[in-house]
Amino acid sequence: MGEINQYPEHIPVLRDAFVEAIVTDPDGSYVDCTFGRGGHSRELLARLSEKGRLLAFDRDPEAVAEGERLARQDSRFAIAHADFAQLGEILDERGWSQVNGIGFDLGVSSPQVDNAERGFSFQKNGPLDMRMDVDSGKPLSQLLERISESELADIIYRFGDERYSRSIAKSMLQAKHDGKLNSTADLENVCFHAVPKKARHGGAHPATRTFQALRIWVNEEMDQIDAGLSAAMAHLKPGGHLAVISFHSGEDRRIRDLIESEVKPCKCPPQLPMCVCGKLPSMRWLQKKPVRPSESEVSANPRSRSSLMRVAQRLTAAESKKQAGYTGASL
Ligand SMILES: C[S@@+](CC[C@H](N)C(=O)[O-])C[C@H]1O[C@@H](n2cnc3c(N)ncnc32)[C@H](O)[C@@H]1O
Repeated sequence: MGEINQYPEHIPVLRDAFVEAIVTDPDGSYVDCTFGRGGHSRELLARLSEKGRLLAFDRDPEAVAEGERLARQDSRFAIAHADFAQLGEILDERGWSQVNGIGFDLGVSSPQVDNAERGFSFQKNGPLDMRMDVDSGKPLSQLLERISESELADIIYRFGDERYSRSIAKSMLQAKHDGKLNSTADLENVCFHAVPKKARHGGAHPATRTFQALRIWVNEEMDQIDAGLSAAMAHLKPGGHLAVISFHSGEDRRIRDLIESEVKPCKCPPQLPMCVCGKLPSMRWLQKKPVRPSESEVSANPRSRSSLMRVAQRLTAAESKKQAGYTGASL
């Protein structure tokens, strides 16, 4: 305890709102699914008592090494090198099947973006990698070997909301064929010249959306979100809280829909007079609308600008029946 954050440049996004949303009992057990450099984890530990426990996850070995340092200093804390798809299994193995709160702060950390060798940034020249876990999966350069132009365009459009996805995909594969797509600087250059002149200046850099889309693809982030959120909701104790921070609308829609499918699981046709599927809700929204950073947070930490936080709670059995309007006779 009393540990000093060695990464003062990494300011945790929505820190107080995130921690307040998750911690309901200082003696409870909590999970931080995205340790990063531990900004949120340290704040969570500060709110827990001597009896409280925090288990963190990260798929990035550098983040885990930092977490292991923290674990040596604070016996209430432990970290696992794992991705969201392994979350449920690891919680079960450790006997953490009913925890008080779980949080996700999605995307990449500042140290990942700032290290040119990781290949996440178009502002620093590096290899075409973009893997969060450098010990597994394939780097971007290898994935680009086997992709068709239309598949690549779909990825850039779907995960980046990029209106010039077709022309960017075409230019990328042409540059690769010509041996001119070997680094993040090359990719930045291709994106810049693939968009019309009027779109090159004035707004976000023309490579921004493509880099985001490719990172989501390389790390299979959408499938990871599905697996992670399902496991998280299943491992909350009744009354336990879930908080999820995301950074773009596609991710937020996915998160909202996944949680909503537990808030309103009944899929019976509306023309039926009553529910016949019998699926009871297991979650409720604690905030109907996503929480956003204040203006002062955005000016102190511009990275927080596009952040959105969803907060929900696991229902008790009685609340679940009440929320479904269950009378005992209608099902
Ligand atoms: C935005 S950073 C978290 C920053 C952290 N909250 C802090 O305050 O330092 C996201 C972290 O989550 C990790 N991460 C992202 N997706 C993951 C996944 N599917 N499984 C495990 N870790 C993941 C990344 O490696 C990164 O370290």
